[in-house]
This record gives sequence, C-alpha cells and structure tokens, in this order.
Amino acid sequence: MTAQDAADIGELKIKWAESHAPVLSSIARDHLPRDVLRGVRIAVDLPIEPKTALMCLMFKRAGAEVVVGTDPLYIHTDVAGALARHGVIVKSLNHESGDGRHENLVSVLETGPHVILDGSGNLGALAHSAHPEVFETLRGVSEETTTGVRRYRRLHANGLLKIPVFAANDARMKHLFDNRYGTGQSGLTSLLSITNLMLPGKRILIVGYGWVGKGLARFASAFGARILVTEVDPVRGVEALADGHVVLPLADAVTEADVVITASGTPGAFTWEHISRLKDGAILENVGGSELEIDVSALIAHAAKCHAVRPFIEEFTLRDGRRINLLGGGKVAFNVSAAAEGHPIEIMDLTFSIQALCVLHMALHGADMPPAVYPVPSDFDDKVARAKLACAGMAVDDLTQTQRDALSEWDLA
Ligand SMILES: NC(=O)c1ccc[n+]([C@@H]2O[C@H](COP(=O)([O-])OP(=O)(O)OC[C@H]3O[C@@H](n4cnc5c(N)ncnc54)[C@H](O)[C@@H]3O)[C@@H](O)[C@H]2O)c1
Repeated sequence: MTAQDAADIGELKIKWAESHAPVLSSIARDHLPRDVLRGVRIAVDLPIEPKTALMCLMFKRAGAEVVVGTDPLYIHTDVAGALARHGVIVKSLNHESGDGRHENLVSVLETGPHVILDGSGNLGALAHSAHPEVFETLRGVSEETTTGVRRYRRLHANGLLKIPVFAANDARMKHLFDNRYGTGQSGLTSLLSITNLMLPGKRILIVGYGWVGKGLARFASAFGARILVTEVDPVRGVEALADGHVVLPLADAVTEADVVITASGTPGAFTWEHISRLKDGAILENVGGSELEIDVSALIAHAAKCHAVRPFIEEFTLRDGRRINLLGGGKVAFNVSAAAEGHPIEIMDLTFSIQALCVLHMALHGADMPPAVYPVPSDFDDKVARAKLACAGMAVDDLTQTQRDALSEWDLA
C-alpha cells in the first residue's frame, strides 16, 4: 500500500470516529471557535489513532499549531499520514522498530509548545529533567493518566514543578468512564484479538482493583471468565469481594491464573517471584500506565528460550519447561497500533471533551496560574455530562430552590 492509500484510510477512520463523537463536536462548536487558539502550539503525547487525531484536528481548526509524537508502537501510520496532510506535525521516527520514543518526545519538545497534553507524564518528566528551555514558552499541561498525575504530584511535592498542570484524569467525566469502561473493554478485546482465545471457564487474575481493574473484571465476567483479584488496599479488596470476586495475596492467586492482567500502575507489581509460580501456558498482559509493572527483564533473564508464537505474543520457555506468553512485550497491549484500536470512540468522546476544555483553559490562562496540580473545574464535568445526555436524548433535573434550601438546613424537623 502506498503512503497515499494509507493516508486515505486514515482519513476514513477519523471520519468514522467523528461521526460517533457528538460530544466533542458540540464542545468544539461551543468553546473552540475559529482562531481562539491562533498562535498557540499544542504538543500531544498520546497514541496516534483516530480519536486522538480528531481532537488534534479540532485544535487545528481553532487556529492552533499541533505537534504529536509518542512511542512508535502506539502510532497508527495511516492516521499519522492523514494528520500530516492536514498540517499536523507528526514526530514518528523509527516506526515499526519500537526504538524511537525518546527521540520522538525530544523532537516534540524542541518545537517549543505552549500547552502540553501529556500521557503518563512523559513529556513533563523529560522537560523537567533535561529540557528546561521548554519552560520559556510553556504555559501549562493537561495530564491524561492516573500514573502521570501521580508523577506531577511527586514533582510538586519535591518543590520541582515549574508549570500548572490539570489532573484531567481525575475529572469525573474522565476516570469514571475512560479508566473503567474504556480500559475494561479495550483491555479485554485486545486480549481476545491478540490470542484468538475464549474466556469462559478461564481464571483471570487482575492485579489492582482500581477504576481500571473494576472495568476489566466487569467485562471479563460478562465474557464468562472467573475473576481473581489482588490488592494492597484492603478497602478496594472488600469492594472486589462485594462485587463477587475472589481476593487473594498475589503469591497464592498466581498459581491459579490462566491469564494475568496488571492494572495497578505500580512498577514491579509482578516480579520474578510471581512469574516463577505461573502455570504452564499462562498469559501475561499489562494495561496499567507503568510499562514496568511486569518485570519483563527478569522473565528474559530466567528464560531458556523465547520466540514469537503469534503477532504480539512472545512465548518464554522457563528452564523447567513451563511456557509463559507475554502480550505486546509488556507495553500497554491495547495501545499497540498494529494489534488493537484503543478505547471505544464513545469513551474518548468524553475524555477528549474534558481535554479540549483543559487545553483551552491552559492556553488562555495557564501563564497566570502558579505551578501546582489543579483539579479540573467541576463545570467542565457538568458541561460534558450534559452534552452527553443531550446527545443521547436524555437529561437530568435541577434541584428546586425549596430543595436547595432544605439541603442547607441542619434542623430538618
Ligand atoms: N492506557 C490507558 O488508556 C489507561 C487508561 C486508564 C488508566 N491507565 C493506567 O492504569 C493504571 C490504573 O489506573 P486506575 O485509574 O485504575 O488507578 P487506581 O489508583 O484507581 O487503581 C490502582 C489500584 O491498584 C492497587 N495497587 C497498587 N499497587 C498494587 C500492587 N502492587 N498489587 C496489587 N494492587 C496494587 C491500588 O491499591 C489501587 O486500588 C494506572 O497506571 C493508569 O495510568 C491506563
């Protein structure tokens, strides 16, 4: 296929996403008029796929210059080709080799962005550690993930944060839907499409019962799997129990699992101690924000041999003959462009609507905000939620003044 043909397909994929993303269209119509972002350079480090592309094009239509770059494994080349046609700057070095992430991110920063839409805090960490010149132009950041928000909070706690950051992940219209239902669906569909296996009767072990873990458990149960959960937070453990799952320490649960999905965001959550107890044929998938959740280097070090058994599945044979199957090299499997499509469009419609409002706010007001990690204003959630309900032909009520007054009283007698 020529690059031209690929870009044509990319265009069609973006159009399809647009036709299923009415909330983002309405937010763009109401809040991103032509030229509101004129002169603003926006840098994006997210998987380059149709939904991200749609958001980038909306920024572009509002006058912004947009530059995108990320891990080459997370770049859909057809979509990248379509974006480039529309004048979006795409930093996609070494595609296919999987080696170009650092170079891509550095060249994104070298463009001198005014606003960064960050994923897992990667651009921000790079700017703070090695590229201080970025702060000459940068007004603010909007961070997409749980892991990234935590990184920015640690920077701030250490007195190092140099810019204002919106914790976009923590907006209710983001994590309640993206982390739970988005990752729940895409984590499962990527597992199914990469392996071509079925789930009924299988024991799926989910490491971490946060928003992502809960979504995975919900979808895997619906597919007929039996769920084991491991946690370090006893309250989340009780939530898993109340949802009908078995909760065990990881060292015990791991011997039972047919499939392990890490969703904790903690580097080193699944180490050799656990890998060494897996059953023959066990499958390992990571969907958490840390690519170090599964200790892949320990797996490599202890394996007698390793070979690809299907696209995106490496089979490691341990010295006692047991075989362990690793999906997507331990990276976020559903973001690997050639293997999966990422989250559903309707989910990213909500996430990117929140992001559009956050990026706009940073572009217009970030320069006046002291460095800190800021919660997303609740009216952003409200706007996006109301737009979503309106698109579905639904609505909620408002409290009456009498109800408001009653709720403000302490003496209800
Ligand atoms: N790639 C994506 O599109 C995407 C989307 C959403 C979230 N994420 C990532 O998924 C991860 C989880 O996100 P979340 O929103 O559910 O976070 P969360 O904080 O709600 O949940 C994480 C859970 O893992 C538990 N945990 C931490 N360390 C553990 C360990 N060693 N063993 C067992 N449990 C452990 C915590 O107690 C917590 O309950 C984060 O890294 C986040 O960035 C990725």
